Amino acid sequence: MHLPLVSAALTLALASLPSGSSSTLWPFSKLSGATTLTVKDLERELLPRLSESAVLYAEDDPRFKEATARWQWYKAPTVNLVVEASTDEDVSEIVKYANSQNVPFLAVNTGHGSTATLGKFNGIQISLNQLRQIDIQPGGDSAIFGGGVYGGPVIEDLWEKGYVTNTGSCGCVGLLGPGLGGGHGRLQGLYGLISDGFVNLNVVLADGTLVHVSPRSHKDLFWCMKGAGHNFGIVTSFEAKIYPRKVDTWFSKICSFTEDKLERFHELLNELSDKQPPELIHWTLYWNDPDVSTTEPVIHWSFEYIGSEEAARPYFEPFDELGPVSCRSASLPYPKIPQNEGTSAQDPICGKGLQHMQFDAGLVKYNVTAQRAIYNLFAEKVKHDPSLEYSFIVMEGYSLQGVDNVDPAESAFALRDDKLLVAINVQYPPNPSLDDFAIEWGKQTRKLFNDGQPGRRPTTYINYAFGDEPMEAVYGYEPWRLEKLRGLKKKYDPHGRFSYFNPITFEDEAPPSHSPEL
Ligand SMILES: *[C@@H]1O[C@H](CO)[C@@H](O)[C@H](O)[C@H]1NC(C)=O
Repeated sequence: MHLPLVSAALTLALASLPSGSSSTLWPFSKLSGATTLTVKDLERELLPRLSESAVLYAEDDPRFKEATARWQWYKAPTVNLVVEASTDEDVSEIVKYANSQNVPFLAVNTGHGSTATLGKFNGIQISLNQLRQIDIQPGGDSAIFGGGVYGGPVIEDLWEKGYVTNTGSCGCVGLLGPGLGGGHGRLQGLYGLISDGFVNLNVVLADGTLVHVSPRSHKDLFWCMKGAGHNFGIVTSFEAKIYPRKVDTWFSKICSFTEDKLERFHELLNELSDKQPPELIHWTLYWNDPDVSTTEPVIHWSFEYIGSEEAARPYFEPFDELGPVSCRSASLPYPKIPQNEGTSAQDPICGKGLQHMQFDAGLVKYNVTAQRAIYNLFAEKVKHDPSLEYSFIVMEGYSLQGVDNVDPAESAFALRDDKLLVAINVQYPPNPSLDDFAIEWGKQTRKLFNDGQPGRRPTTYINYAFGDEPMEAVYGYEPWRLEKLRGLKKKYDPHGRFSYFNPITFEDEAPPSHSPEL
């Protein structure tokens, strides 16, 4: 991996960001239009209602820039004021206050929400970064987590005490950002999705009420929170299952292949998926890696096994025989795996301030013809401009046993039939003159993935959505799903306060067909 180069690009990108460009509208207009609020108003009216550690600040405060830094700069939400909540009740009070002033609010944890629908937001950011407790419960079957926890510390803290739980694969990403949309991750073969592990959640509803949500309390809402949760509330804390860690080390092997191996490589992956045990995780990139080739994008393959190299050997051996350019392997404790794979909070993939034109698809198998077309398009388009060179195609092949063990009707997560999570990520420092090109390329790639499975309707993992997808692709094609979600949206969020992350909308509100795309 040529990580130093990527870091250089990121530094450049951050340096070139217009400082505070997202917050020039202070004081901001209320939705009703006529009046404005100032920081002083909020200090006087809101702060006294909050706990001692809660703070609020605007653009002129040194904390503002970091608090509003985002992984995705394209269509970033406009934040005028940050309020850091320190307790569950703080979140409730902030929401009640924002509603009384008719000002939109948006809960933010680690700032990885990437869908373009967030661009419609303009208002108060509720930061959850103070809510980071991790408390293992007596008996060791579950832990209570603050709503602001994120992958790296959760993995490290639990592992040290002999446990693991589901998180997303990037160490920088929160548990709930992905979890409220289902939540794929390395441990899903064993334990299902992040949301499959939810025991109960404390949720602030659209009107500011704080409720306890579980299979016994607000059962209908519990169903929503597992797949469509971003539309229904702010989780301030939650209890999730944890599991004894089983092994002391994972085996990791990372290989690079040249493009002439592409067809056979994907055939081997299809054969692997037919016999993939729950302990096996693999993912693939097409990307530029000058250590391997300075002329063509290469295939980067990452293989992880929860157990020993010996146990993993039958699964990786066929790939050795295919003839990689290079491989490296290691046995490591789980907390070291993200770093080894380039997905830790310190790695460039977690860096903030770039634009990511991300378009995804859910597949059942690789179609070799489609993969060739996707690779060729990538090789051509990535040369269009030097600043696009860190773009990549990512194809995640997590195990499925834990996901398949859950009845699909039990949660709002509708895509348990998708076996491979694939996406293009066209990334570059903010530069509007490249946007049309990048979006066009992204859409072409998504279409190639989907055309490779004729007869299967396109699906979108909500956390990878670009924001232009039909609701059915995100929330499920079975008509009962959207009907149920819309009914519960009317019940729990009648005024659409949670309408910025791939919102559930109603037919009568659908934009006219001639309206411009995002
Ligand atoms: C593979 O994808 C191509 C389009 O790229 C399509 O024409 C073909 O039918 C697909 N094959 C299978 C087996 O689905």
